[in-house]
Amino acid sequence: MFIEEAKKAREKAYVPYSNFKVGAVITLKDGTHIHGANIENSSYGLTSCAERNGLFSLISQGYNVKDIKEITIIGDSYGPISPCGACRQVLSELIPHETPIYLTNLKGDVHETSVSELLPFGFDLNTDRTNK
Ligand code: THU
Repeated sequence: MFIEEAKKAREKAYVPYSNFKVGAVITLKDGTHIHGANIENSSYGLTSCAERNGLFSLISQGYNVKDIKEITIIGDSYGPISPCGACRQVLSELIPHETPIYLTNLKGDVHETSVSELLPFGFDLNTDRTNK
């Protein structure tokens, strides 16, 4: 779990509408940290969450999702932050389903979870994928 890195990611958020900053750090097996932060838009539905941005950044930079070790997500939430349904679907397609995902908040609450727990029986078009 990398709370301080997730906080650094969170500081990059662009949230003029909700003022709710979220940070995600995707940590690779070699120790590399990839940051993601939420980016909002005046056309609200175009907002993109921290988890998704982190994962898309990782792939865009040429890293391999197979090298992901763990993910830490942080927000100023009452309990550990919980990814939205859309992010669960994206995570489910792109990361191994047993990858540790640490849901945290600024108070220090932590809940360790995984795609298997966050999105059981999720949609999967390609039955040949091996990341489950
Ligand atoms: N948000 C995230 O970035 N990740 C989550 O896990 C939950 C919600 C963002 C979307 C929006 O910018 C703000 O939090 C308030 O909903």
